[in-house]
Amino acid sequence: MEYINYHPDLELARRILEYYPTTPRVYLRSFGCQQNVNDGELLRGVLAGVGFEGTEDQAQADLIIFNTCAVREHAEQRVFGNIGALKKLKAKNPRLTIAVCGCMVQQKEVVEKLRASYPFVDLTFGPNEIDQLPQLLFQKLSGGRRVLSDPNDRTDIVEELPVVRGSDFKAFLPIMYGCDNFCSYCIVPYVRGRERSRRPKDILREFSTLVQQGYKEITLLGQNVNSYGKGLEEKVDFSDLLEMLCRLPGDYILRFMTSHPKDATHKLIDTIAAHPEHLAPHLHLPVQSGSDPILKEMNRHYTRQQYLELIAYARKTIPGVTFSSDIIVGFPGETAEDFSQTLSLLKEVGYMQLFTFIYSKRGGTRAATLPDPTPYEEKADRIAAIQRQQENILEPMMKARIGSVQRVLVESAGRTEGTLAGRMVDNTLVQFTLPQGKTPADLIGSFVRVAITDARLSMLLGEVADQ
Ligand code: 5AD
Ligand code: SF4
Repeated sequence: MEYINYHPDLELARRILEYYPTTPRVYLRSFGCQQNVNDGELLRGVLAGVGFEGTEDQAQADLIIFNTCAVREHAEQRVFGNIGALKKLKAKNPRLTIAVCGCMVQQKEVVEKLRASYPFVDLTFGPNEIDQLPQLLFQKLSGGRRVLSDPNDRTDIVEELPVVRGSDFKAFLPIMYGCDNFCSYCIVPYVRGRERSRRPKDILREFSTLVQQGYKEITLLGQNVNSYGKGLEEKVDFSDLLEMLCRLPGDYILRFMTSHPKDATHKLIDTIAAHPEHLAPHLHLPVQSGSDPILKEMNRHYTRQQYLELIAYARKTIPGVTFSSDIIVGFPGETAEDFSQTLSLLKEVGYMQLFTFIYSKRGGTRAATLPDPTPYEEKADRIAAIQRQQENILEPMMKARIGSVQRVLVESAGRTEGTLAGRMVDNTLVQFTLPQGKTPADLIGSFVRVAITDARLSMLLGEVADQ
């Protein structure tokens, strides 16, 4: 593995632009997780460096990029549907270049399928090849032939990539790439490769720039941020990294995802408790299942008991801490009894936010070889049961916030006239009345303190408290 600094190739950019009579436009859509969205922002940055403008209109585009996700079959089907719909556009405009990148094309079968059945797709490349886009595009433009790269296992970390961010107050900051956990259901280790960490100095440099630019919410990204630092020359773990970043003064909060419960330490929880000014009192700690036999089959390396102990320690240590989680329902062999264990764990913890998924079989993973006798309808019933229960759990938790004052990052106009909406650090939506004498532009992108006066299931309502 090597650390490489990106240098824009101006001569290559000039040669690419020769193929376009006017400023070329790119339409880019990301389909996946926050890491995938951040990859999209880097792709936009690299293309802006070449001389491309962005467009939201596919019909206006000279280059269309689908930045894909492989984590569930449903996401893949959606992408194939969207690619299929481009056939007509390409027939109308043969000069259009169509690229498919991201996690999906890190699977050989997907590249084969594109090669055989989607002749209008011109380019494919993986999430570890963002810096290569200008070369690949030039290869396609100059050679005329399709450039469908096979999945690659490149491990280099490319620093100093240009970026065009989707927001001017919320930013993603990747701290590590890849994953070594091999949860038995998960495709990520196969498509994103081995775990590798960025150097602290590179992270700090990007972080200071973001704070200087006025970013208010910075989310550190990694498939498993808790194992940050393995393999680095410097002896540094995730908690040390947080400590180091928090020392930088400024009006910002730091969030991070995803934490694997097996690697979440008391040191991490103590670090969060020590920095309430910058570290959100919130943990996204995906449990996946509440049943020990299923957790074992999933290769998660923790028990229900160990997970609950971690939650209890966080509750004791971080005032007002809240939790969110991912749940997989219908893992192969999950019985009604296993599922009831999940329901009871969800009750016990009381999450502010849940992301629930029906198990999706991913070729090449260990779980794909397990017998899976439960009918899909039953799995769908289970997920509905979780959602019903979650509403009952959430209602009193939301009501309990009436009368409190919350720090809210203002994001947009609210749903009703004369209101603004923003989010608390645990993602809870808050809508409040626009204070007299203020315009939305005065407040969007900054923190306000909101006195909560009422609660719905999906959001809190309130008024700005005296600042
Ligand atoms: N099927 C369903 N859900 C999955 N996830 C990962 N792999 C699968 C799969 N094969 C879910 C997990 C993970 C989240 C990002 O996606 O809950 O935490
Ligand atoms: Fe999807 Fe996982 Fe790739 Fe993110 S890392 S885009 S969730 S497959």
